[in-house]
Amino acid sequence: MTVRAPTKVNLGDWAAFSEQATPIRFRVFVDEQGVPADMELDEFDDVSCHALAFVGDEPVGTGRLLPDGHVGRMAVLAAWRGRGVGAALLQGLIDEAVRRGMGRLVLSAQTHALGFYTRFGFVPEGEVYDEAGLPHQAMVRQR
Ligand SMILES: CC(C)(COP(=O)(O)OP(=O)(O)OC[C@H]1O[C@@H](n2cnc3c(N)ncnc32)[C@H](O)[C@@H]1OP(=O)(O)O)[C@@H](O)C(=O)NCCC(=O)NCCS
Repeated sequence: MTVRAPTKVNLGDWAAFSEQATPIRFRVFVDEQGVPADMELDEFDDVSCHALAFVGDEPVGTGRLLPDGHVGRMAVLAAWRGRGVGAALLQGLIDEAVRRGMGRLVLSAQTHALGFYTRFGFVPEGEVYDEAGLPHQAMVRQR
C-alpha cells in the first residue's frame, strides 16, 4: 500500500516562490534529467501561478499554471516520489484553474508520466515529439 506523505500545497507568484522552487526544478530537471540549465527558468515563470508542496517545513515539489491553461514544470524531489506529493500539487493547480473558470487545461507530458496525468483526466493528443531532448506527449483535460 502506498504511504501518503502529509502534504501541504501553497499557491503563489514567482516573486514569492522562486527561492524555494528553483532548487527543486534544477535538481529534478537539470541534474537528474539533463535538461539544459539555460532552458529551466523562462519568461512564463513571471506570469504563472506556482504551486509549492511542503512536507513539514521542507519544500519537496513544485509545478505551475500558465494564464492560458498550460500546466508544467511538475517536479517532486526523488526521495519524496510515490507518496502523493505530485497528486497534491496537480490537484492544487487543477482546483486553481477551475476557480479561474478555465475549461481546458493542456500540458506537455514526458512520456514516462502519462499514467500519472491520466489519473487526473488528461488524455493524449497527437504524436510523441522531442522537447529538451526528452520524448513528450501533448495531453488535454476538458472540464
Ligand atoms: C511525475 C511526478 C511529478 C509524480 O509525482 P509523485 O509525487 O511521484 O506522484 P504521486 O505519488 O502523487 O502519484 C499519484 C498517482 O500517480 C501514480 N503515478 C505516479 N507517477 C507515475 C508514473 N510515472 N506513471 C504512472 N503512474 C504514476 C501513482 O502511482 C499514484 O497513483 P495512485 O493514486 O493510484 O496511488 C514525479 O515522478 C516527478 O517529479 N518526476 C520527475 C520530473 C518529471 O518527469 N516531471 C513530469 C514532467 S511532464
